[in-house]
Amino acid sequence: MNPDPRSRAWVEVDTKGIENNSRVLKNFIGKDCLLMAVVKADGYGHGAETVAKAALMGGADSLGVATLEEGIQLRNAGLKCQILILGNLINAEELYSSFCWNLIPTISGIREAIICNNIAENKNKRFAIHLKVDTGMTRLGCDCNKVEELITKIDCLENISLEGIYSHLAIADQELQNSTQKSFTQIQLNRFEKVLKDLGKRNKLLCTHLANSAGTLSDSRLHFDMVRVGLSLYGYFPVNDIESDLNLTPALKVKARVTLIRDVEKGIGVGYGHMFKTKRNSKLAVVAIGYADGVSRALSGKISASIDGVLVPQVGAIAMDQMVFDITDKPDIKTGQVLTLLGTDGEVCISPQNWCDLSGSIPWEVLCSFRNRLPRVVT
Ligand SMILES: Cc1ncc(COP(=O)(O)O)c(C=O)c1O
Repeated sequence: MNPDPRSRAWVEVDTKGIENNSRVLKNFIGKDCLLMAVVKADGYGHGAETVAKAALMGGADSLGVATLEEGIQLRNAGLKCQILILGNLINAEELYSSFCWNLIPTISGIREAIICNNIAENKNKRFAIHLKVDTGMTRLGCDCNKVEELITKIDCLENISLEGIYSHLAIADQELQNSTQKSFTQIQLNRFEKVLKDLGKRNKLLCTHLANSAGTLSDSRLHFDMVRVGLSLYGYFPVNDIESDLNLTPALKVKARVTLIRDVEKGIGVGYGHMFKTKRNSKLAVVAIGYADGVSRALSGKISASIDGVLVPQVGAIAMDQMVFDITDKPDIKTGQVLTLLGTDGEVCISPQNWCDLSGSIPWEVLCSFRNRLPRVVT
C-alpha cells in the first residue's frame, strides 16, 4: 500500500488555476498571437505533464522544455502538440532522438544545422528547427549581425525546415519594475526587429518570438507571432508590485504536518547550532519539511507559516527534513495539524516573492526547488 501523500509534507497543484491562467494569458495576447507554455524543470516544480495538459486545455498552443528528456517525457504522456527544446542539443544522438520524437531543437549555429540535415537525409520528412538569435542575453543564439548569412546557409540544407526564429530578453523583469526605463529591452527589440527586417520576405515564413512573462505583460510590441510564458502561467507576476488587471491564480501550495509539540523553558537552544534561543517559556511545533524538500536553509528564522489563517514564526536552523515553529501565541495547535508554508490559507497568502525578499532568491528558483522529494497532490 502506498503511503498517503498528505501524511508528511506535500505540494498541492491547482490544475484549474493553471488552465485559467493559460486562458487569461491567451485572451491577453489576442487571437493573432500564439501562446507557448514553458513547462521545463518539471513544470517549474508543479509537474510537467499535469501543467502541460492544463495549459493546453486553457488554450496554449505549444510547449517549451529545456532538455530532450523533458520533451520525451511529454510525448510519452501522449501530448501531440508542438514542443520546442529551448536548450542546446549538441550531439548527433540527441538530435536524432529529437527528430524521432518530433521535438523541435533550437539551433544557434551551422554545426548543429548540418547534423540535423544529415539526420533527415533519406527520411520522408524534413527536420523542423527554430533558430535562436542573441540580441543581448549573451547566452545561446547566433550573433545578431550574422543571421542573414546563417539563414542563407541553412536554406541550402534541403532536409531542414526552418520554422521559427527567436530571441530571449535579458532584463525585462527588472525593467518591468521601472516601466519608464525600458532601455535594454528596447535595444533587444530594436535588434530583433532589424534582424527580421533584413530577412525581408523570408521572415514571413517564420514563427517569430521574443517575450517571456515579463515581456508579454509589459509591452505588446514584444509579442510577435508567439510568446513563451513560464512564471505567469503558474500564477505569478515577474515583479512584486506590478499593477495589473490580469486575474492570475497562484497554482502551488506547500504544506506540512506538525509531528511533535514541545514545551520548553526560556533560554533553551533550538536545532542545529542553536541559532535560536527561546526568549520565554515556549511551545514549539516540529514540522516535517526541510531543505531537502525544497525550503532553502537561507530562510532559517525568517519565514512564517499559516495555520487556520494565523501566521506562526519559524525558529532556528531549517534542517534537511524538519524545522521548528514557535506556536507559543497559538497554543491550541495539535500534532498532525497542517501548516501552509507557501500559498493561500484563508486570508493569508505567502508567495514565492515573499521568500525571495527574505533570502535573495528569485521566484523561479523557489518554485523549481519543489521538484525532488515532496509528493504532489493535484487538486
Ligand atoms: C528561452 C526561454 N523562454 C521563455 C522562458 C519563460 O520565462 P518566464 O518564466 O520568465 O516566463 C524561459 C525561462 O527561463 C526561457 O529560458
